[in-house]
Amino acid sequence: MEGKRVVVGVAGGIAAFKVAGFVSQLAQRGADVRVIMTRSATQFVTPLTFQTLSRNHVAVDTFDEKDPSVVSHIDLADHADLFVIAPATANIIAKMAHGLADDMLTTTLLATQAPVMVAPAMNVHMYQNPVVQENMDRLRQAGYRLIEPGSGQLACGYVGQGRMEEPENLAAAVEAFFRETPDLSGKRFLVTAGPTREPIDPVRYLSNRSSGKMGYAVAEAAASKGADVLLVSGPTELSAPAGVRRVEVTTAEQMYQTVIGEMDEADVIVKTAAVADYRPVNPAESKIKKNEENMVLELEKTTDIAEVIGKRKKHQFFVGFAAETDRVAKYAQEKLSRKNMDLIVANDVSRPGAGFDGDTNIVTVWDKEGEALSLPQTSKREVARRLVALIGERLHGHR
Ligand code: PMT
Repeated sequence: MEGKRVVVGVAGGIAAFKVAGFVSQLAQRGADVRVIMTRSATQFVTPLTFQTLSRNHVAVDTFDEKDPSVVSHIDLADHADLFVIAPATANIIAKMAHGLADDMLTTTLLATQAPVMVAPAMNVHMYQNPVVQENMDRLRQAGYRLIEPGSGQLACGYVGQGRMEEPENLAAAVEAFFRETPDLSGKRFLVTAGPTREPIDPVRYLSNRSSGKMGYAVAEAAASKGADVLLVSGPTELSAPAGVRRVEVTTAEQMYQTVIGEMDEADVIVKTAAVADYRPVNPAESKIKKNEENMVLELEKTTDIAEVIGKRKKHQFFVGFAAETDRVAKYAQEKLSRKNMDLIVANDVSRPGAGFDGDTNIVTVWDKEGEALSLPQTSKREVARRLVALIGERLHGHR
């Protein structure tokens, strides 16, 4: 964990005393640990405890700006490679689930782009309360990773589920997180994203509902691990993620030309784009007038870019996506083998919370041997991080 930057958010529960051991273990393993405490947390453990264990100043008050050259909650939010909330009380979980930002911890959390682990700790009945469970579901769907509490004797006297995970297990989860995505420095990723637009006339086109969010998240996740990322993007409203080179295209043909021109340089190709399968045969040069009651538009097939990549690829690790509405596993596995992919990410786009446009997805990843990863509804950014982790893992054994 040498040099990894972990921000630990401590909320006001008795399990705060166990977090001292967790912070100590992170620091001993070489992590750069910063602690943010809520005011209630300071009733259980003093900031001095965490300052001594982490060797860093502990933040409690949003307005305690020690360094005038930065805004401290944004600085801490940007600093983190990983955020861990421990103990996560019912109160902090509710605030996070609803986007409240009324203290240093919640304000920093809203501003961070880093993955967040949440280690709940509370009374068993609070934990089972449907409102708390609903809030935790919201966090899971937003891509937060929940570390389920264990069962046993609780500090309040009850026996049941609600004990925060033990410090050594929390430290092991953090270590596993950093191991999960190897460093991708020196690897070149070619990622496609968004829809294509196929002109009918100068003012109309055929397209689809892809927003580009899934592909941009993949590009961002790969770049955050040090990869050199080229993003070939159809028309979207999104800005290019930091450190990612973007080439903008409009039609399937332009995407094809760009991808084929760049593929030899790539180590990994991820085809997230929703490329049009058909385009008008003869796009009109001037706007089509509505003279007839019915109109027939003749379409022709576009080039299947993925199929061409599958045929031409040499050393490249090739990942495709499959947007299906039925028989998802069957159709995805057929595409995997027909297009000679190494992995295919299948999303059932008929399910609420999956597929086009939204911020979340539900995916199953297949390789030639079978299922490689399955994720319940979670944010596209978290799907992208887990996918990039899987690609990183596979790259080591890939020639
Ligand atoms: O952009 P978002 O709003 O975030 O939505 C994400 C998404 C639903 C678009 C994404 O998750 C997704 O599923 N992308 C693939 C969509 C698609 O075109 O699937 P497909 O099953 O039709 O195609 C299979 C694969 O072949 C894809 O990798 C596709 O990029 C590729 N293909 C398809 C047609 C074509 N002419 N050329 C291709 O390369």
